[in-house]
Amino acid sequence: MKIGIIGAAGKIGQMRVETVRANPRCTLAAVMDLAADKAAALAGGAPAFSDLDRFLDQKMDAVIISTPSHVREPLCLAAFARGLHVLSEKPLAQNLASARRIVEAARAAKRHLGGGFNMRYYPAFAHVKDVVASGRIGEVDHVRVYGGHGGLSNFTHDWEYKAEFSGGGALWDVGIHMTDMARHILGEITEVYGVATSRVWNVPGSEDNAMAIYKSPSGVSALYQATWTDWKGYQSAIEVYGTRGMVRGAYAPMHTLTITQDRPGGTQRREVNGYFGVKVREKLKSWKVTAVDAFAGELDDFISLTEGREGLRIADGHAALRAIEVATMVPESSRTGQPVQLENLGPMRL
Ligand SMILES: NC(=O)c1ccc[n+]([C@@H]2O[C@H](COP(=O)([O-])OP(=O)(O)OC[C@H]3O[C@@H](n4cnc5c(N)ncnc54)[C@H](O)[C@@H]3O)[C@@H](O)[C@H]2O)c1
Repeated sequence: MKIGIIGAAGKIGQMRVETVRANPRCTLAAVMDLAADKAAALAGGAPAFSDLDRFLDQKMDAVIISTPSHVREPLCLAAFARGLHVLSEKPLAQNLASARRIVEAARAAKRHLGGGFNMRYYPAFAHVKDVVASGRIGEVDHVRVYGGHGGLSNFTHDWEYKAEFSGGGALWDVGIHMTDMARHILGEITEVYGVATSRVWNVPGSEDNAMAIYKSPSGVSALYQATWTDWKGYQSAIEVYGTRGMVRGAYAPMHTLTITQDRPGGTQRREVNGYFGVKVREKLKSWKVTAVDAFAGELDDFISLTEGREGLRIADGHAALRAIEVATMVPESSRTGQPVQLENLGPMRL
């Protein structure tokens, strides 16, 4: 499979280039970036462009789009118009209308759209999903998800936090990964009720705190919090409570706790995993080694997705869209004081 990468010179784009070059199931067809020279230096001989049409003239089957989200729509639409599959970074777009147009374009072109929620591949979060799927904690009763960091001091570009580019605040940033994790566990989110506030950083349209309850079609709930005021630093976590136990996954540091019991209040079996190997590698190199591993797993699934395989860990276009719908509806619910209902999208099929 031939893959092109748009936004290849960026922080995430560089990691995407590394994973495509390392995967034996694909080759790097070409790279594109406004900074084409920088992208060329990373591309291992693949041609580099700053012009979209010339880039798309290269022979390829799919593109990975790793630009900021506010420039994503025309890039996605051009790729689908050329019959290419697309793996887009999160968030899919900077507003709901744009995200919907991208999903529609994928559908019209009958091409796959991957959602870029690479945290699904972080070992602790993959463990949570796998334990729930195995039935070891029984039936899911409820979920708790959390994503946060210290907000604006972590950003270097306007587009990362100004709503006209980013879509919004904490809900759209690390919080969008955790909305996706909640949906990944619940199966679907069809009701959203929440509160969003922006009294700390005061960026118009960009909430610095959001709390919400998400519900699945069968009424299983997830308690959600996203924040830009966690002065302790970057943290994301998911806990799932079932009829026969619980499982927790958190990062950073990578950590899981699994408790199972034969009956409510019965004998407990506890398993803790501190992912010593991950910690050592991050200490010796950087957090990027963990991110690159996740991008590599996601890329492998993206290739399988384009081959028509189902039941993969990768987020599809509906996952990308629903995360944006939810990020839009939490502030809406906060304004009206009412829950918002959403249709059951389910998996995206061509
Ligand atoms: N999945 C994750 O964990 C994760 C983490 C951080 C960022 N992201 C997302 O990845 C995306 C990129 O973030 P980043 O931190 O790498 O940003 P960045 O600024 O480091 O890189 C963006 C790159 O896109 C290029 N670019 C911008 N507009 C372009 C256009 N129209 N055509 C071609 N290239 C263009 C820029 O020149 C730059 O090289 C964002 O959507 C961000 O939200 C995801």
